[in-house]
Amino acid sequence: MPKNLSIKIGPLKESDLPEADRIMRLAFGTFLGIPDPMNFMGDRNFIAPRFHSKHVKVLAARLDGRLIGLNVATRWGSFAFFGPLVVLPEFWDKGIAQRLLAPTMKLFDRWGLRCSGLFTFAHSAKHVGLYQKFGYWPCYLTALMTRTPDANTVQPDRPTLLSTMTRTQCDQAIAACAKITNKIDKGLDLTAEIGVVLAQRTGDIVLTHTRGALDAFAICLYGPGSEGGMKTCYIKFGAARGGAGAGDRFDRLLDACDAFAFSRGVPVEAGMNLAREDAFRRMSAHGFRPMTQGVAMLRPNIPGFNRPDVYVIDDWR
Ligand SMILES: CC(C)(COP(=O)(O)OP(=O)(O)OC[C@H]1O[C@@H](n2cnc3c(N)ncnc32)[C@H](O)[C@@H]1OP(=O)(O)O)[C@@H](O)C(=O)NCCC(=O)NCCS
Repeated sequence: MPKNLSIKIGPLKESDLPEADRIMRLAFGTFLGIPDPMNFMGDRNFIAPRFHSKHVKVLAARLDGRLIGLNVATRWGSFAFFGPLVVLPEFWDKGIAQRLLAPTMKLFDRWGLRCSGLFTFAHSAKHVGLYQKFGYWPCYLTALMTRTPDANTVQPDRPTLLSTMTRTQCDQAIAACAKITNKIDKGLDLTAEIGVVLAQRTGDIVLTHTRGALDAFAICLYGPGSEGGMKTCYIKFGAARGGAGAGDRFDRLLDACDAFAFSRGVPVEAGMNLAREDAFRRMSAHGFRPMTQGVAMLRPNIPGFNRPDVYVIDDWR
């Protein structure tokens, strides 16, 4: 098949969602050598909840109208990441991903970000080389970690959940979350992500406080049709207020996430970039174990919020 296929890039449509989900599972499942590629990620859904989010744009690649690839771009204020980026296996190595990445970079430039990132397979020369072509540089590893909270260690207190708050309390809490992230990295803002989780009911936001002041928060995705699915509490993003005592605040956030997951009878999954050295060590001490790891790549090559003094959970998948 020629490399100069007449590919059209445009927005993904709602009617594409089932096929987009199929391509995502088939592409990753094939790359990873999963016997039935369609089992990749089980009941977890990384496309539909994002497609229905205002802070996310999904680009589709079509050949004669047929969907053959897509890329998902997510904006968290002054930071954005892309992924899943997937191409139907029969069309690999024909330049389709690059056709999707060029407009993704234009979109990121329009968004006026401080930096953007992605998470990829550290061992794959193809993946790292592909992204380097677009200005990304491999930085620290990100570990995808898991832990099953057990009855003996879970704190008896119920965690504070954003979904149980009044409208006013909720607005104040979301503003406090934005303040925490803005202090960690200027402009980093999860407000839209939080709003979507509440609106779609795809999980909840776990909050911890000291004398009424917000210490930390975690966006925990769990439930049918969510990124966590029915068997996992996936912390898509978590952050503890920085400065003196940040490590202890982070420990208490981990306790609160344990309590949330335990109440639903599921394990916790959370990504940690190894540049956040103390946070990684605290997760290990807390009982989290890496299931697998990949590399975070950044454009431009700056630390962003992958720094030793940062207590953030995320993985950019
Ligand atoms: C990864 C994936 C999206 C790439 O899509 P693709 O359409 O095959 O990629 P392209 O053909 O546009 O680009 C391939 C590029 O990789 C780079 N590359 C390939 N092998 C390389 C190597 N050994 N060393 C360095 N760079 C290499 C080259 O830049 C190459 O393009 P070029 O030959 O034109 O220079 C696709 O293989 C896929 O869906 N994989 C499964 C899911 C996945 O891994 N998604 C990405 C997760 S981060």
